[in-house]
Amino acid sequence: MGRAETDTGVSGAGPAAEMIFGDWYPALRSDVLRVGKMTTALLLGIPLVLGRKKDGAIFCMRDLCPHRGIPLSAGWFDGETVMCKYHGWKFEPCGGQCQEIPSLTQIDTLAPTKIFATSYPCVERDGYAWVYVPPVGAGRVEMAGLPEVPELPKFGTRFRSAHLVAELPCNVDHGIIGLMDPAHGPFVHQAWWWRSRASIHAKEKKFEPIPEGFRMSAHAPSSNSAPYKLLGKPVTTIDFVLPNRRYETIRAVATNGKESWFSSLTTVTPITASTCRIDVLAAWDIFYSVPFVTSIATFFGKRFVRQDQETMIEQAQGLRFNPGLMLIDDADKPAKWYFALKQARLTGSGAHPLSGPVTLHWRS
Ligand code: FES
Ligand SMILES: [Fe+2]
Repeated sequence: MGRAETDTGVSGAGPAAEMIFGDWYPALRSDVLRVGKMTTALLLGIPLVLGRKKDGAIFCMRDLCPHRGIPLSAGWFDGETVMCKYHGWKFEPCGGQCQEIPSLTQIDTLAPTKIFATSYPCVERDGYAWVYVPPVGAGRVEMAGLPEVPELPKFGTRFRSAHLVAELPCNVDHGIIGLMDPAHGPFVHQAWWWRSRASIHAKEKKFEPIPEGFRMSAHAPSSNSAPYKLLGKPVTTIDFVLPNRRYETIRAVATNGKESWFSSLTTVTPITASTCRIDVLAAWDIFYSVPFVTSIATFFGKRFVRQDQETMIEQAQGLRFNPGLMLIDDADKPAKWYFALKQARLTGSGAHPLSGPVTLHWRS
């Protein structure tokens, strides 16, 4: 624990965090997966190779040949099978089954089809390749019986969308508690068009338990946020759900009665035990008819995420020294709930930190 990782290209990472296996994580944007091409990724410290077969199906295998461990991505993919570079073993990549071992002769009795490379359930959704990372030592995993693949909620068929990604040099716990931290806004995200530090005021927010998470109950968004003033009477719901998902929806009815919505799904995914990646996926029909809204939203979002990323890069400088840390009431209460929920998942206790609705108070 605590060793610096540099695999993501982000150096100087701090202490490791325990990771939640047995769930779905976004590996990469699925539009990079092209027929006949292999793309590598890293999830929860596992090297992966992903690709798209001729029939359009995407696949994800552990990027290690079961024969001698060379990365399969060093070999060849013809759109049907992945061939290892070292001894030419061929694998069907969706199920991982070996189809051919070129060195076998007539007198060999080894059946190649009894050999499997590790492959993972992999689903394309909302432009991401979602990969199910099984519990350690789980063996072959079938799709049936797995939890639902996460999806960005949408409230209509006509919408615009945007996504962005940033690698963070800290472990997934710091990424997640940064995501749900209500008190950093006026300092990290200070901007003339959003809110100023002088606008800090006392807030009261209602939370309630949901399965494996909690919900910040519907409410009118911050009155000190200029963009919200344009929307009419918006109702916001923010859910956090294990292992790493924050869903935010804003639904509003304008004075002319027209309903509009904004929806985002933000995930913080462990790349290694000490590094993570934040992905933000958003869709909206608010201002659907206004041109350039996608670039405006991307600008807002990018700037936001960059501010978080820069702060966490600086935080990682400090975390390398393994300092003791504090979580204070009430502003850090969601972070405490996250740690309790995670512990309950890891131990299988089924305990929930919230026994009912709770109101938290802070200034931001
Ligand atoms: S190492 Fe892959 S075929 Fe031998
Ligand atoms: Fe932030």
